Amino acid sequence: MQGRQAGTALLLLLAVVVAVLPAPSLGWGVDGHLIVCQIAQARLSDAAAKAVDDLLPSDAGGNLSSLCSWADKVRFRYHWSAPLHFIDVPDNECSYSYDRDCKDEEGVKGRCVAGAINNYTSQLLTYGSSSPSPSSKSSSSGQYNLTEALLFLSHFMGDIHQPLHVGFASDKGGNTIDVHWYRRKTELHHIWDVNIIQTAEKDYYDEDAGKFVDALNKSIKGAWLDKVQEWEECAKNQTACSDIYGSESIAAACDSAYKNVTEGSTLGDEYFGSRLPVVKLRLAQGGVRLAATLNRIFGESKP
Ligand SMILES: *[C@@H]1O[C@H](CO)[C@@H](O)[C@H](O)[C@H]1NC(C)=O
Ligand SMILES: *[C@@H]1O[C@H](CO)[C@@H](O)[C@H](O)[C@H]1NC(C)=O
Ligand SMILES: *[C@@H]1O[C@H](CO)[C@@H](O)[C@H](O)[C@H]1NC(C)=O
Ligand SMILES: *[C@@H]1O[C@H](CO)[C@@H](O)[C@H](O)[C@H]1NC(C)=O
Ligand SMILES: *[C@@H]1O[C@H](CO)[C@@H](O)[C@H](O)[C@H]1NC(C)=O
Ligand SMILES: *[C@@H]1O[C@H](CO)[C@@H](O)[C@H](O)[C@H]1NC(C)=O
Ligand SMILES: [Zn+2]
Repeated sequence: MQGRQAGTALLLLLAVVVAVLPAPSLGWGVDGHLIVCQIAQARLSDAAAKAVDDLLPSDAGGNLSSLCSWADKVRFRYHWSAPLHFIDVPDNECSYSYDRDCKDEEGVKGRCVAGAINNYTSQLLTYGSSSPSPSSKSSSSGQYNLTEALLFLSHFMGDIHQPLHVGFASDKGGNTIDVHWYRRKTELHHIWDVNIIQTAEKDYYDEDAGKFVDALNKSIKGAWLDKVQEWEECAKNQTACSDIYGSESIAAACDSAYKNVTEGSTLGDEYFGSRLPVVKLRLAQGGVRLAATLNRIFGESKP
């Protein structure tokens, strides 16, 4: 989120390179995106798994989760993509409306994470329908690069489930709220992108994101089992349901992420313990819904 303005972005990049500071937060951190995509890839239908395999670059070894932070890596090269990672809602407005809120800072409609999910879903729906030149694989259908479409969709489905990616405009989704995570200085946004997940991995999962995925996997098949179908659902003739996910995120931002936090707060055990369940739920929902969306796009034949 901090890369919104060219000047700020360049300065930040420079600061990172020069001072070897931790990288600025750009969505769930690498682990959050990896978790969402690992959950998703295991739930793909045969048809979707095949298409994903076909679209992934060959050096990914068929592993979607290895590229789910690609969209953050290209954010500076593809400068136009920076507004596509989040949604700003008016301050203290705990709801989201596509027509009101999905726009970039210049007011261009549809340029937000919900619009991007719709965009890359429509692009992927053209998979297999290209009029192929003998040299091009199905991964480019006319004007679109469907490899990029897959990587963007997989990343943005994670981002839209991070509650503070649908946050208040004036604090840039918590990016300008300085707080302490235990004894370390950071911003509220970064706590949700990275720190809660990292602390959970350290405290409960031997610093292994794979073990975190296993635990979420268990809940998806256990405690959450009767909710999973509802998470997967989308209105009858829709392929992606980004507006539902965005509305849930701003509600969680208000009820949980922003709640009881002010500039200068120190957040520790109490915040971690009460917010970790929200983070787990959003990661699981992101993974389940990414799979459901890819299954709708590429065909439902279950494995
Ligand atoms: C896929 O890639 C991720 C990230 O690089 C890695 O952690 C994971 O172990 C890989 N999965 C497989 C099955 O190779
Ligand atoms: C849609 O995708 C194209 C191709 O990547 C991109 O140029 C455009 O900015 C995207 N728009 C949105 C709203 O995602
Ligand atoms: C599609 O995008 C990927 C990732 O940016 C790139 O490596 C590949 O060359 C592109 N394919 C085409 C046909 O442009
Ligand atoms: C999660 O569960 C699926 C089965 O639904 C399994 O195929 C997959 O390997 C599991 N993922 C991990 C990382 O354990
Ligand atoms: C389905 O889509 C059409 C337009 O594509 C729309 O007019 C109709 O209201 C939609 N139906 C439902 C149930 O959403
Ligand atoms: C916020 O603080 C109030 C008062 O201390 C407390 O009762 C409430 O549980 C807190 N809510 C959250 C979500 O932390
Ligand atoms: Zn992002």
